Amino acid sequence: MAVEVAREGSVAVVTVSRPAALNALNAQTVEELSVVVQDLASDAAIGAVMLTGAGDKAFVAGADIAEMQSFNAEQARAFSARGQALMDAIEAAPQPWIAAVNGFALGGGCELALACDIRLACESASFAQPEIDLGVTPGFGGTQRLPRHVGQGWAKYLVLSGRRIGAAEALRIGLVQAVVPDGTLFDEAHRLAVHLARKSPAALRAGKAAVLAAAECSGAGQEIERGVFAAAFGSPDQREGMAAFLAHRRPRFERS
Ligand code: CAA
Repeated sequence: MAVEVAREGSVAVVTVSRPAALNALNAQTVEELSVVVQDLASDAAIGAVMLTGAGDKAFVAGADIAEMQSFNAEQARAFSARGQALMDAIEAAPQPWIAAVNGFALGGGCELALACDIRLACESASFAQPEIDLGVTPGFGGTQRLPRHVGQGWAKYLVLSGRRIGAAEALRIGLVQAVVPDGTLFDEAHRLAVHLARKSPAALRAGKAAVLAAAECSGAGQEIERGVFAAAFGSPDQREGMAAFLAHRRPRFERS
């Protein structure tokens, strides 16, 4: 299992654990996480959830490039739909989800953090939507949630440049709510989870729903996202981008 769940009183700690791939999300992990979200949503004993990545290097380094490399458009669309549904389920969960971003939060990892209600990061954490360098675009809701969190300017900067930003920059632009020293993140996030778990469950649920309604991640936007993500698969740029990553070289994209 690539997803571990520890229940400690009214707090659940969910850890994505695929260390050999820096906790990248393959289809199996997306399914496992989806089941966990569903289980916790129906567990009245759980008042708050903390989500993190195993090890001290990565939160989640994105969707699994090795798995995606050979996807055709139909497979990519299905994968995107499953990922989007997972993120929507976290957003719609009755309990607050806190992302404890303990390292790389890239691509699908950044999108996973964005689906959580609150993001705490350690000082060495970093964020990016690097799909552009793979010849594709974000597929797990990032094109819709990023502008909601950081505004269109920063969303475009991140999605179009693929550049990685550090935790301090992420705090400045509103991508995370707090940055804490390395080594203290787990305790800080856990303390916040315990704090939230003491609140009225009904009021927490209502508060989440009301804030979400202010900027709903529209189905139409996600349909567009799914469409352009899927359309990239099988293209020369997707093949070149993913092959280059896996071969540890820079991609060469043709202009025409
Ligand atoms: N998918 C699959 N494997 C990954 C991975 C990913 N997203 N990220 C890292 N890995 C693997 C590497 O291939 C490597 O495996 P091997 O040891 O077998 O070669 C292992 O994890 C360690 O990675 P690196 O050797 O590259 O470690 P590093 O410290 O030099 O670099 C990194 C770390 C900057 C995170 C780099 O691994 C990287 O750039 N990863 C890819 C990030 C990325 O592009 N993410 C977006 C994916 S697309 C996506 O998410 C689409 C979507 O929205 C659905």
